[in-house]
Amino acid sequence: MGLIKPHGGELKIRLAPEAKRKALLDQAKGLPQLAVDERTVSDIEMFGIGGYSPLEGFVGIKDYASIVEKMHLANGLPWTIPITLRVSQEESKRLKEGKSIALKDSQGTLLALLEVQEVFSGNKENEAAKVYKTIDRSHPSVDFLFQSGDVIVAGPLQVLELPNQSEFPKNRLTPEQTRKIFSERGWQRVVGFQTRNPIHRAHEYIQKCAMEIVDGLFLHPLVGKTKDDDVPAEIRMKSYETIVEKYYRKERVVLGVLPAPMRYGGPREAILHAIMRKNYGCSHFIVGRDHAGVGKFYGSFDAQKIFDEFDPKILEITPLFFDYTFYCKACGNMASLKTCPHDPDQHVTLSGTKVREMLRAGELPPPEFSRAEVAQILIESMRVPSAKAS
Ligand code: ADX
Repeated sequence: MGLIKPHGGELKIRLAPEAKRKALLDQAKGLPQLAVDERTVSDIEMFGIGGYSPLEGFVGIKDYASIVEKMHLANGLPWTIPITLRVSQEESKRLKEGKSIALKDSQGTLLALLEVQEVFSGNKENEAAKVYKTIDRSHPSVDFLFQSGDVIVAGPLQVLELPNQSEFPKNRLTPEQTRKIFSERGWQRVVGFQTRNPIHRAHEYIQKCAMEIVDGLFLHPLVGKTKDDDVPAEIRMKSYETIVEKYYRKERVVLGVLPAPMRYGGPREAILHAIMRKNYGCSHFIVGRDHAGVGKFYGSFDAQKIFDEFDPKILEITPLFFDYTFYCKACGNMASLKTCPHDPDQHVTLSGTKVREMLRAGELPPPEFSRAEVAQILIESMRVPSAKAS
């Protein structure tokens, strides 16, 4: 049987081969240069490693319209959030269809060549309303969209240098590498887990429930751009490393990192999260409560319901849905609204605000909510000024 195939059949790795890179770098120096934001830097890495397969670069007008309106690429493959490069009218004057431009990060490092195939405009209100279900600028991605330029530049990328390679080098596994690891371990059924938070007991519970029915777990915290009040990636990773070391069978877990930016797109992002994990070789993907949500923009289980709108034979990766999970004192174990018959006052649940208050005061939340080792890491991080959100 083997591992699930990448989305669209094969990995589209856009990192230029080593032998071509020097010539491409020389070529880049003579081209118009464009400095891109942190989110786009994350996107460039994803294209470089094949994480956005079958896309080979920022989407053109046909795919853009089809993604926004129909949640599929123009060729019918599921894809729910357009990966675009937006520039200002002023910047767009330097661009010509058919000519390449060089993309660099804010420090001036050349990252990629973009062969400009199309330059077009896309209605931001329509994109926000369809993709994020709101035009309210308190939604981080809607705000980002409205701050971005009005002109969309599309075309395939040749990545010259993968960004951020010094961060989490051991865990910065590419889809090619994870596929190799899964195969070497003899895994075929692999469940992927997306997270942008430190691990708590509900996470651990749903991961371990899923592990009961597959060969292995791919723990895949997102480390691309997140909003400033999310816990910084290095602290989240520390929480995962500590917990895997103490409470998981290491031969059944691979801990990687997903370089993609967080879009807080709730249901549509859940589909994109699943597609990216399919590229890494996952046959299954966990979707729990309020997956990829922010504020009150989405219903708690919208990210599960959206899977009904996709043909499972084409999506291929199988979602594993979990209801709201917690520790129940009457059950004497972790449970969910699906399994626990007791009154909610038996459930150990804490709001994010309450947990932050306790941690700031140096208090450990109940062990049924968070393992003490994780709480300790979070308490420490609040004490060290350099560990603040970047
Ligand atoms: S997310 O934005 O990356 O989705 P988070 O890291 O909190 O946020 O969640 C990771 C995964 O665990 C998501 O699939 C989410 O739905 C699920 N999850 C988190 N907490 C719970 C919970 N108490 N019950 C059920 N699922 C949960």
